[in-house]
Order: sequence, then C-alpha cells, then structure tokens
Amino acid sequence: MTVTERAACRVCGGDLEEFLDLGRQPVSQSFREPGDATPEFGFRLAVARCSSCTMVQLVEAVPRELMFHEHYPFRSSGSAALRDHFGRVARRFLETGTFIVEIGCNDGAMLAVVARAGVRHVGFEPSGQAARAARDAGVRVRTDFFDEHAARALAAEEGPADVVYAANTMGHIPDLPSVLRGVDALLGPDGVLVVEDFYLGDVLARTSFDQINDEHFYLFTAHSVLAAGRLHGLDLIDVERLAVHGGEMRFTLARAGRHTPSPAVAALLAEEEERGLAGLAALCRFATDVARIRDDLVATLSDLRSRGLRVVGYGATAKSATVLNFCEIGPDLVSFICDTTPAKQNRVTPGRHIPIRPATAFAEPYPDYALLFAWDHAEQILAREQEFRRAGGRWLLYVPDVHLL
Ligand code: SAH
Ligand code: TMP
Ligand code: ZN
Repeated sequence: MTVTERAACRVCGGDLEEFLDLGRQPVSQSFREPGDATPEFGFRLAVARCSSCTMVQLVEAVPRELMFHEHYPFRSSGSAALRDHFGRVARRFLETGTFIVEIGCNDGAMLAVVARAGVRHVGFEPSGQAARAARDAGVRVRTDFFDEHAARALAAEEGPADVVYAANTMGHIPDLPSVLRGVDALLGPDGVLVVEDFYLGDVLARTSFDQINDEHFYLFTAHSVLAAGRLHGLDLIDVERLAVHGGEMRFTLARAGRHTPSPAVAALLAEEEERGLAGLAALCRFATDVARIRDDLVATLSDLRSRGLRVVGYGATAKSATVLNFCEIGPDLVSFICDTTPAKQNRVTPGRHIPIRPATAFAEPYPDYALLFAWDHAEQILAREQEFRRAGGRWLLYVPDVHLL
C-alpha cells in the first residue's frame, strides 16, 4: 500500500500551503518485535493549510487499514480520566437521545453506559480487538469504518439518529466529506453531530508538534469546522473546551437553521481572528518554534551523553514517535522507554527502534534524566515517581520548549 499525496484540500478542493515538514515517519502506534527485519512503512509527515476553507491537514494520508486494524493498541477505558469523561458524555446524550450513533467507539467507554441505560445505539469501530471489547461490554458494534456508504446502510435499516458522536476520531479520517455526507444521510431533522478533538489553538499555544502524527490528519479550529460543515448543510452551533488529553475542543453541529448557535461560537471565532489562527503567519511561527525545539532537544541529549549521563524515556506514547523520528533520536541518546502497557513492553518504538521496558525498569537503577513523552499525564506521573527526584533524577520536557523540571 502506498500513501496518497494531494496538493488540493480534501475538504473543499482549494489550494494547500505547506508550512511544516516533520520528516519521514512510521505508523505511530506500530510497535515492533526487536530484530524484526521486515521493511517498515514510512511516509512524509507534512502539514498544510487550505487557502480557501482554512482547514489544517496533512499532505499525505496513510492508508486507514495500516493504522486501524485487529491489533490497534489504544483503549479509551485505559485511563480513569477518560472513563469519567465518557460517562458524563453518555449521561448528557441520554437526556435527549433515543438513537445514538458513535463513530470510533473503541472499547465502548461511552456507549456501554448508553447500553446499560437500555437506549438504542450503534457504534462503528474498525479495529477488531477494540470492537470485541465494546461488544463484550454490551455495545451494538459494527466492525467497520464509518463513511457515507456505511451511514446510508444504517439509516435505511434503523432510521434517523438523534446524536452522532465522534471523539478523537473525526480528525483521523482524511475523507471528511464522505463522513459529513454520511452524517447528512443519518441525522434526524433536529439531531446533533458532536465532535471532540484536538484544537489547533492549543497545539500552537503549547508548541505541541508531537500531537501531529499519521492518525491526526486534521487540526481543527472553529473557522475550519464551520467551513467544512457548511459545505454539507451543517452549522456550528456550540463549542466547549474540554480538559481531556491535556485540552481539547467539543464542536456541536446541526442542520442549518434548526438550532440557534450559542454565543460561545461567535466568541471563539473572534478569539481565533485575534490570534490569527485562520491565517498562515501563526502557522509559520509555529514551524520556526518546532525547528528550535528539535535543535535544543538534540543538543541537550547529545550533551548529556557526552557527559556520561543516562537518559530514559517515560511513556511510549504515539506522541513520542513524532518527536523521535523528527529529531532522529535513537537508543544512543535515549537508552529505553518505560511504559505501563503490556502490549508495548519488550517491543521497540516505530522508526527509531528504542526498546520499551515495563514501568518497573525505571528504578533499576534510576536514570540521571527522564524524558517525559507522556507530558499530558505529568501531574499523575510526577506524583507517583517522587522517589526519582529524591534520588537526584531530573525530568526533561520539550513542550512548550526544552526545559528541566
Ligand atoms: N473515541 C475513542 C477512541 C479514539 S481512537 C476515544 O476518544 O477514546 C480513534 C478510534 O477511531 C480507533 O478506535 C479507530 O479504530 C477508530 N476509527 C478510525 N477510523 C474510523 C472510521 N472511519 N470510522 C469509525 N471508526 C474509526
Ligand atoms: P498515549 O498518550 O499515546 O495514549 O500513550 C500514553 C502512554 O503512556 C501509554 O502507553 C501508557 C503510558 N503511561 C505510562 O507508562 N505511565 C503512566 O503513568 C501514564 C499515565 C501513561
Ligand atoms: Zn479547503
């Protein structure tokens, strides 16, 4: 399979202006067996802005079957914070919805709550093991990608949906127009499409370039979501900030003219104008900051190595793949990465092949420096690893710039 590269915006067909090249990257959650000599898939992780609809998007799309398959490792229920969040989301939907559809339901963290309440629902989840986990939790799952075709089939069988929900999934789907045509076919007259995803404004504010990877095809703003929705008869009627994943945005859309937009929409649009989030200049400044972080991080790690100090990574996150491959950091600079996920342990990271060890390896003995890839969980991790600092260890972070804690 090969990547598809397009110079045209996938949302509106407008011209793309590339502003950031994060180099050759692997599939970010494709952890390999050590010594695996089979060729590794790679693509150019480059980011562009559409000069018409302003949507920020990748230039090359990785085939979806290479990312979302039987062994896709991410599980929504793996984090207590996410479980709580999805429980709240479900209870909110239960107040109004009698037919709830989720795109990318994963292990059913949200829909299992809907199922227990006895409310009609369907989840789309192409990744086999995740879909089975949802089914075991009582969720009605279609082990399939959601697109226009699948949506039309569901609408014909089950009628209109009150809520279509996609958390951390809408931005994963390059063929967004197909999804929006599907939503148009499926949504009842007063139904809502609720999208939770990373927000470009947060990525720029933190210089968190590591949130860009094969899976995160789009980086949304209120401007770009509004433009994409309008091409398919949908209006943006609400926006809310969320605390999950270190900060996200919830966009609510509905059929044009059926709901009055909340004042929060106009407020966020105005804030984006002020910050220049719909333009190219802010994106170019971001790209300059990213290049500086790479140079600083490589210089810092090289300096520590030359002084004989030991550095290990903490959290074999999807984010770490972007950092390691963009900065060309291998086991010579970061000897291993510790991680609590059994499916990642004793494998190596995609691309740079840094070994992954269980969390217990962190203290055997403590390294001099720990490079924190799971920075969105910093509070929890620092609280648990207090002994590391008492033993003289230091945390090294690279967002919003390279610094020690
Ligand atoms: N909604 C969950 C899972 C997010 S991970 C959460 O927020 O925690 C993204 C999920 O979307 C993966 O489980 C992946 O298999 C699924 N996915 C990717 N493309 C999809 C598509 N076209 N339709 C439905 N699900 C998709
Ligand atoms: P993600 O950000 O790509 O979801 O990955 C988070 C990874 O970090 C996951 O593999 C588990 C790991 N992790 C730890 O190893 N220790 C921790 O304390 C936390 C919170 C996460
Ligand atoms: Zn466009």
